[in-house]
Amino acid sequence: MQQHKKVLEVIQSDPSLIELTVKGWVRSFRSNRFIALNDGSTIHNLQCVVDFENFDEALLKRVTVGAAIAVTGHLVESQGQGQNVEIQVSKLEILGDADTEEVKLTILSPKRHSLEKLREQAHLRVRTNTFGAIMRVRSKLSFAVHEYFHKNGFYNVHTPIITGSDAEGAGEMFRVTTMDLKNVPKNDDGSINFKEDFFGKETNLTVSGQLEAETYAMGLGQVYTFGPTFRAENSNTSRHLAEFWMIEPEVAFNDLAANMDLAEDFIKYVINYLVENCQDDLAFLEQRQQQEDKSKPEAERSPMPLMEKLQFILENNFKRVSYTEAIDILKDSKPNKKKKFKYLIEEWGADLQSEHERFLVEKHFKCPVILFDYPAKIKAFYMRLNDDKKTVRAMDILFPGIGEIVGGSQREERYDVLKQKIDELGIDEKELWWYLETRKFGTAVHSGFGLGFERLVLFVTGMTNIRDVIPFPRTPLNAEF
Ligand code: 4AD
Ligand code: MG
Repeated sequence: MQQHKKVLEVIQSDPSLIELTVKGWVRSFRSNRFIALNDGSTIHNLQCVVDFENFDEALLKRVTVGAAIAVTGHLVESQGQGQNVEIQVSKLEILGDADTEEVKLTILSPKRHSLEKLREQAHLRVRTNTFGAIMRVRSKLSFAVHEYFHKNGFYNVHTPIITGSDAEGAGEMFRVTTMDLKNVPKNDDGSINFKEDFFGKETNLTVSGQLEAETYAMGLGQVYTFGPTFRAENSNTSRHLAEFWMIEPEVAFNDLAANMDLAEDFIKYVINYLVENCQDDLAFLEQRQQQEDKSKPEAERSPMPLMEKLQFILENNFKRVSYTEAIDILKDSKPNKKKKFKYLIEEWGADLQSEHERFLVEKHFKCPVILFDYPAKIKAFYMRLNDDKKTVRAMDILFPGIGEIVGGSQREERYDVLKQKIDELGIDEKELWWYLETRKFGTAVHSGFGLGFERLVLFVTGMTNIRDVIPFPRTPLNAEF
């Protein structure tokens, strides 16, 4: 049972009445007298005051940074700065030692460690203030996601992790096989014979739960998935993971405009939830960001303090702009000679690069932007073709400092049009017969989107590398833990 938070809440009642036992990890032990204890429930350490004359010297020696201990004592008003109450320790127990010399070699040692260093010890970094705060915020955000959908009448669907199709058609999948790779059975033409594999066919880890969620939206009306997704894209950037969590709502009878409304309402709800429920951790992360900014060149600093940024999102409408309008804006913009933004774009039809997206959001509109009606050629097969036959009802939401945070669309609900598209792209129909069948039996307009959970955690914590907002990041050449 975590008690530190409760202890702090007791400030309002009469502290002297309360004797309690708390357990946690030692953050510091000053002057053989003041133990800063933390059990992970809050950013605030609990000060435990030891009268060293009452304790065995050998026992006090074992109160080292990183050790797990239990202290029992009365709560008293604190004389020191930084806390209202402290525990006057009457009993002290070592639960798990931490050898000082060995601790010195780890990130638990009490000095400032770089984020790169912390990543190398991902199994210990949650014991630092920064990662404690991030992971508590991440957990609360996950709760807020479920709460939003629950309150709005959505059902949570657990879509499969192992799938037989490529939901995005981008060929970025991790294959799942039980075959002996040294001795793979082959067909006469030299291709791999998956008939002898576990599932009797080629399978992979899911890149998105969308296609399965669509079939459920056609029965339950409003559904969402929130699970791990996998992409074997070899992009070593601060925005990409090989394993990330995605939130994917799917709603029958929603068109693209309703889909935009849902996405905006959803994002504002979960951010507001954090503002109301994570003040201490957000305040700490804001301070941390300001500290980091001091050592950065002006152009790389965060334009607003964290809380102000979150408030800004809550108070402003997302700007809705068609792809075609966006291209016109980019064409009109002047290329920046300093190379930071080379945002000139020549052609309608080109995919936007992150520098284009950042220009639109950070320099031009200065607020979140929903870009819609993209050229069909640069988007996935399942998106609803517009009457112009050139564009599809796609939407991407772009956030300052992040770029694309949401990708979604109204889905192609017309059997013939969808089948033609699948044929055109050379997608194997055997993979998607079940998906096509939903367009035969009571097809209807429907829409949905996918929000990359880690990109949202990045935004709300003010961190800058996606590897720092998931407990154990998976990136190319990195699956140590
Ligand atoms: O734009 P994407 O690829 O869209 C889909 O997967 C759709 N099937 C979603 C849907 O309509 N149900 O991915 C959606 C979002 C992106 O906007 C981004 O936030 C995140 O997922 N994302 C990643 N996050 C971290 N690492 C990666 N490699 C990501 N790829 C996409
Ligand atoms: Mg996308």
